[in-house]
Parts: sequence; structure tokens; C-alpha cells
Amino acid sequence: MSIPQKSRQYILPAGRKNGYKKLTITEVEVPKLKATEVLVKVHAASLQYRDLMIAYEHYDPCLAGREIVPGSDMAGEVIAVGQDVTDWKAGDRVCANFSPAHLHGDPTPATMAAALGAFEPGVLTEYRAFPAAGLVRIPKHFSYQQASTLPCAALTAFNALNGRANPIKAGDTVLILGTGGVSIFGLQFAVASGATVIATSSSDEKLKIADKLGAKHLINYRNAPDWEEEVLKITKDVGVDHVVEVGGRGTIYKSIKSVRIGGGVYVIGILSKGDFPQDIFRLILLRAAEVRGILIGSVAQFRDMVKLIEANPEKTTPVIDKVFKFEDGVAAFAHLESQKHVGKVVIQVSKD
Ligand SMILES: NC(=O)c1ccc[n+]([C@@H]2O[C@H](COP(=O)([O-])OP(=O)(O)OC[C@H]3O[C@@H](n4cnc5c(N)ncnc54)[C@H](OP(=O)(O)O)[C@@H]3O)[C@@H](O)[C@H]2O)c1
Repeated sequence: MSIPQKSRQYILPAGRKNGYKKLTITEVEVPKLKATEVLVKVHAASLQYRDLMIAYEHYDPCLAGREIVPGSDMAGEVIAVGQDVTDWKAGDRVCANFSPAHLHGDPTPATMAAALGAFEPGVLTEYRAFPAAGLVRIPKHFSYQQASTLPCAALTAFNALNGRANPIKAGDTVLILGTGGVSIFGLQFAVASGATVIATSSSDEKLKIADKLGAKHLINYRNAPDWEEEVLKITKDVGVDHVVEVGGRGTIYKSIKSVRIGGGVYVIGILSKGDFPQDIFRLILLRAAEVRGILIGSVAQFRDMVKLIEANPEKTTPVIDKVFKFEDGVAAFAHLESQKHVGKVVIQVSKD
């Protein structure tokens, strides 16, 4: 494929007042490759709750007033490589890691600063150069749209369940909150690992999808505001082994009540309002709970996740709620904001 000169890309302009509503498509020069970089034609991108927070300037105060190329998650095709790159060739199908600098081990301030779609330009663009080491081969059986869902939501769920000293194992019980991007991958990876899943949602319709994906117990948290009591009933007062905690302040206390002594609560999201009782610290102590903050994951973890997906193709097919055309970026953000989705919202960037 010849290397194009121009790339269409989205920007969130500086001084936006209404979040994503001022998303604009611009045309920029395709970057000249450095020796260690790879030029990728972006086929598909998926949106995160983080993209909404960045658009509304609720993410990091240091980003306020800056023009941003949004989007952290993409899948695409290598079209050229820098002179020192030996791992990739034209035609390879890749995702970029959420932070291309986070290769293995714990995140650091430097790896977080290199995350895409915030201080570094994002992926809602047709052509982008990435450092070669920050790319990962996509699962062989995935389309680009499917693979675009992996870098943030899937890797976060994978890291939560697998990234600690006591990772998930067959026979464990896992509590999943809600049916958004991270939670649905958490459900699927738990089922693929042989665990029993308890899924919660605001909606019976959404719970039907969780049921089809293999969740064994379903709780509508609108109808059962004391859902932690339901979880304890289901587990015969023992509690679950793992909680994929995406709610934050309004759910954390109930999540810790739901976990067994010595279990893990993975603090991922901040979706809910509300507050928690002061004795939360006593509760953590009495549960001997491992309350672990998660910051996405590394390239090494991404490769391990691809292995899990390829070994369990039928249980790990990404749930894509809706695909939008590149020109319909504002509508895609609005759909994510409506919270009507289950799983992921995808934007087709380039025609396949
Ligand atoms: N730490 C990290 O590395 C990391 C990575 C990715 C995402 N996140 C964070 O994780 C959270 C989820 O992200 P996402 O991309 O999966 O979001 P998303 O796709 O927008 O999903 C949001 C879903 O969460 C559920 N939800 C909302 N309020 C809830 C509540 N009070 N209790 C239980 N469920 C609730 C809703 O599902 P139902 O209607 O089914 O309840 C909603 O559709 C966000 O806060 C995001 O910023 C963090």
C-alpha cells in the first residue's frame, strides 16, 4: 500500500463548552516515521467512558483548555515501518496498547503520561505512527471492529482478574457490576476461566444479555438496592472471590460487603454518586480484603489476554452494541453517554 500524505482526524477543540458536541474532523499531514515507529492505518476505534470525561474536562485538570485528538482504543493494519523495526511488517494486524510505553510491570507516571487520547494524541484518526514496542498482534479470528474493543475495557478487566498474586481460577465466584464495556469483558473472561458469575444491572433487558453470555445469577440493582444481601444469599454468606468494581463511591461499601474473607475488590471506575459509611476501613480489615486499584494494563498482559481469547473464541467474542461511521463521531459519543449500551460502542474509521 502506498503511504498517503493526509489523514482525517477528530479534534476536541480547546474552549469546548458542551463536551463532545464540538468534535470536529480536520485534515493533517501523515507523520514522517522515526526509526523505531510503525505507521498504522486505523480501521476501527472504540469509545470509553474516559473519552466522555475528557470531552467534558472532568478527567485531569491539566488537560483543561487543551485541544485533544480523542480516543485511546484502535485496531488497524501496519502500512510502513521505521528502519530499525524488525518485529512488524506491512499487513500485520495490530492494536496499540492504551499506553504504548507501558510494556510490562506496574504503571509509572511516565507510562500514564504516554496514554493515548489525553496528553498524547489519540486514535480517532485514519493514520497514526506508534512506537513499535507498544503494539500487540490482534486475535487471529477477530475483525478490526472486534479488536478495537480490547485495549482499555478488555485489558482492564483482564488485569483486574489476573493481575494479582491470587488470580482468578476455575470454581471462583465473580461479581460484575453493570453491563458496560469493562464489566462485560469481566463477565466473559470470568466465564472463560471457569468461574461462576453474578451480574448486576439497572435493566432486566441488559441482564438477559448477561444471561446469554453465561452469568449464572442476575440481580437488578434498581429493584434490589441492597444487592449485596442478594450476593451473600447466593454465596451462602461466604461472599464472592472477586469483585469487578466500576461504581466507585456509591457501590464500594456494598462491594466490600459482598467479598469473601481474603477476596479481591478491583477498584476500576467512578460511575456512581453517593457516599459510604466511615467504617469502610474496619470492614476492609475484617474482610482481609485486597482492595486493588487498576490502571488498565501492560503490553505483556495484553499478549496474555490475546492467548486467553484465542483459546476461548466462543466465550470471548466482544459484545459490540453499535457501530458508527467515522463522520458520525458526535452521535457515537452521545450513544455512549446515554448509557443505553451493553458492551462497546465502535467507530469504523477507514473503509476495510
Ligand atoms: N481504572 C481503569 O483502568 C479503567 C479502565 C476502563 C474504564 N474505567 C472506568 O470504569 C468505569 C466503567 O467504564 P466503561 O468504559 O465500562 O463504561 P461504560 O461502557 O460507559 O459502562 C457504564 C455502565 O456501568 C453501569 N453502571 C452505571 N452506574 C452504575 C452503578 N451505580 N452501579 C453499577 N453499575 C453501574 C451501567 O450499566 P447497567 O445499566 O447495566 O447497570 C452503565 O451502562 C468508568 O468509570 C471508567 O472511567 C477505568
